[in-house]
Amino acid sequence: MRIDIVSVFPQMFESPFGASIIKRAADAGVVEIALHDLRDWTDDRHRTVDDAPYGGGAGMVMRPEPWFRAVEQLQESPPAGRVILLTPQGRPLTQSLVADLAQEERLILCAARYEGIDERVREHLVDDEISVGDYVLSGGELPAMVVVDAVVRLLPGALGSAESLLEESFNDSLLEYPHYTRPPDFRGWTVPPVLLSGDHAKIDRWRRAQRIRRTAQRRPDLLADADLTPAELEERGDPTAG
Ligand SMILES: C[S@@+](CC[C@H](N)C(=O)[O-])C[C@H]1O[C@@H](n2cnc3c(N)ncnc32)[C@H](O)[C@@H]1O
Repeated sequence: MRIDIVSVFPQMFESPFGASIIKRAADAGVVEIALHDLRDWTDDRHRTVDDAPYGGGAGMVMRPEPWFRAVEQLQESPPAGRVILLTPQGRPLTQSLVADLAQEERLILCAARYEGIDERVREHLVDDEISVGDYVLSGGELPAMVVVDAVVRLLPGALGSAESLLEESFNDSLLEYPHYTRPPDFRGWTVPPVLLSGDHAKIDRWRRAQRIRRTAQRRPDLLADADLTPAELEERGDPTAG
């Protein structure tokens, strides 16, 4: 996959992308990430990307021209990719949206600043608008990093063990089961005996039950989409269970 990121602060990405899974994936050729400075597509001496809002009001708005020039020039080398604007007004980023993005050959992420971006960019340049949560950040750079991190770890070859993706939180609309490691007794808090039993079928059943219980306690909203067996539904006292 190729990911292009356009921002007025491309240097913000260097440290998080220079470590751990993203760096390993880039070194292994699993992903190619290119950082672009929006100001390279301005045409005035001050490299201006913003202007006062029509109609008045606080703050500055990003002008459309540099965004159109940037994205259109990037798209001259195919594939055109999916152009994504990070915005608190976008659709919420979920694991299923991340999985969908991971299927793309190319993503072009637009990270805005100031009060936001001229509406014509939303309407005529971008394919998708994504939010990382119901709060307002000062820029789209952190949201773009979140998207890249979540997507890259799903790309084949990015993680040491693809198995770690299988039972992760939000897969199958369930949260993950609790983890334990050595020591078996820490300050009198012991590891559940089933995990020390060596009985893998029993461990699998315990983990599955923990996933369901945890999701019911913490994120009951997710359970509606989970694929539970009739026995699991009954155990939960679900009124729709046969
Ligand atoms: C200060 S915010 C602008 C918020 C805008 N005035 C509004 O009320 O919707 C500047 C930029 O940060 C990014 N941003 C802020 N919060 C975000 C979020 N929750 N998800 C995605 N991008 C966000 C967007 O690119 C946004 O244009």
